[in-house]
Amino acid sequence: MSTLVTGIAELVTNDPALGSGPLGLMEEAALVVDDGVVAWVGPAASAPGADARVDVGGRAVIPGFVDSHAHLVFAGDRAAEFEARMSGARYDGGGIASTVAATRAASDDALRGRLRGLIAEMRAQGTTTVEVKSGYGLTVDDEARALRLAAEITPETTFLGAHVVPAEYSGRVDDYVDLVTGPMLAACAPHARWIDVFCEPASAHAFDGDAARAVLAAGRDAGLGLRVHANQLSAGPGVRLAVELGAASADHCTHLTDADVDALAGGSTVATLLPGVEFSTRSPYPDARRLLDAGATVALATDCNPGSCFTSSMAFCLALAVREMRLTPAEALWAATAGGAAALRRPDVGRLAPGARADLAVVDAPSFVHLAYRPGVPLVRTLELPGRP
Ligand code: NIG
Ligand code: FE
Repeated sequence: MSTLVTGIAELVTNDPALGSGPLGLMEEAALVVDDGVVAWVGPAASAPGADARVDVGGRAVIPGFVDSHAHLVFAGDRAAEFEARMSGARYDGGGIASTVAATRAASDDALRGRLRGLIAEMRAQGTTTVEVKSGYGLTVDDEARALRLAAEITPETTFLGAHVVPAEYSGRVDDYVDLVTGPMLAACAPHARWIDVFCEPASAHAFDGDAARAVLAAGRDAGLGLRVHANQLSAGPGVRLAVELGAASADHCTHLTDADVDALAGGSTVATLLPGVEFSTRSPYPDARRLLDAGATVALATDCNPGSCFTSSMAFCLALAVREMRLTPAEALWAATAGGAAALRRPDVGRLAPGARADLAVVDAPSFVHLAYRPGVPLVRTLELPGRP
């Protein structure tokens, strides 16, 4: 079934061949969707016919957000930890243990309910693709369970058994890495597209460069793509390791050396920035301008998780990127859509050109700039089209 979308005051295609600038902007546009795929994009005046018609009433239409970094399979709540941070406590990843305990104790149905609730919250705010990590189970069975549940709602599933060293392996990091790279990987790989590791020598709970390399190498040998939690708390080895191993994405990038920036600019690894984390941990923001000016590909994601950043709102992260990291509104929107697609190596999302998935979001304003201009206002939602599940 085909649908003609009309009344688009401004269309962001992210295809420079279709419109102006890197966002491929078109004014007074229309778009035809056929069987869930964009079939035609062009001026409203020359729109073809279709089986159904949806009029968005003079609003802006953008590609749905691609949230390429989220931790959504968990139980429990860490509001008290956030409250303590706002009174001066530092974030070091130690609170992850409490989410691990709550997650292990939760039923499948409880975890599924929470996960689906967060996905619905994201979708209602314009996110149409989301990556979901494990990492709060940290046993063979609990990690495999998290990935089975995640795979029910997204193909972008990431095995993060190397999130932190669980309490029962305290002082035995090598033994835990053997578990992660051995039986845990074997149980999780069938349900995962990616593998990730929290590479952070500055945290007593996370993994150093050698351990991270072992985890990523094992994941690659098992056929998984690579992603890295890199340089969140210090200028550690994570970013350079990610680039060296050809990871799709190095995430956080909060503390970067010149060598890190050069590596990201020269490689194929996307720098995924998570400004909601700096907001929620009261930390300095990454130097996004330096990355962009050096030529790195930058993505924005929420990192939605119960500890370092519990927002599901890509629009909030986009506004932070503009205000706090000096991205232009256009750079921030690109990073939250096409940038996320690049970080997930998904050519079918993050753009609205013929052949792409028809993942549309509508902004209740005449221009996408309102996403940053009106922070905190719920302007953007996924456009549900007739005949699409
Ligand atoms: O991306 N840094 C490691 N992991 C998450 C936080 C997880 C948590 O605190 O529960 C992050 O910030
Ligand atoms: Fe994360």
